[in-house]
Amino acid sequence: MLLPIYTQPNQILRQKAQPISEITPEIIELAKNMRETMHQASGIGLAAPQIGKSLAMVVIELKAESEDELSIPLLTLINPRITWKSLQKINEVEACLSVPGLEGAVIRPSRVRVKALNLEGKTIEIKASGLLARVLQHEIDHLDGNLFIDYVKKNQIKECPIVDYLRK
Ligand code: NI
Repeated sequence: MLLPIYTQPNQILRQKAQPISEITPEIIELAKNMRETMHQASGIGLAAPQIGKSLAMVVIELKAESEDELSIPLLTLINPRITWKSLQKINEVEACLSVPGLEGAVIRPSRVRVKALNLEGKTIEIKASGLLARVLQHEIDHLDGNLFIDYVKKNQIKECPIVDYLRK
């Protein structure tokens, strides 16, 4: 089922998401719907607050468009947290389904480690670099109520095309 995507300034995007204490059938269903919604909106990551649920869950999927790009099959992360960040940082342009029509460069650590539960309730650890490291940080930021535009100077925010999608 496709879900409407909440956009800023909706206050749910600014709340701290609640940890998930039990992986119920409803959580599994929500993860499935978030994946479908992310695909439909041509996103590479989506956090539960973006579809109006203040819960600590994100989905990420990267499809390589060329041979030298990274392909990451669907990751569903429950209660994810960053356990390590590299000192080395990198400046890259980001956009967000909840901030339609805008993009801007954000300086972030180039590598991170993340711990989370998967949908089976097992603890997983991800060591990420490149685009995956960036998407992980962007999505985990959503769970803390932070948006990428918070880190971009006003005069450095640019307009970008909007993907046609139902938004709230
Ligand atoms: Ni986003």
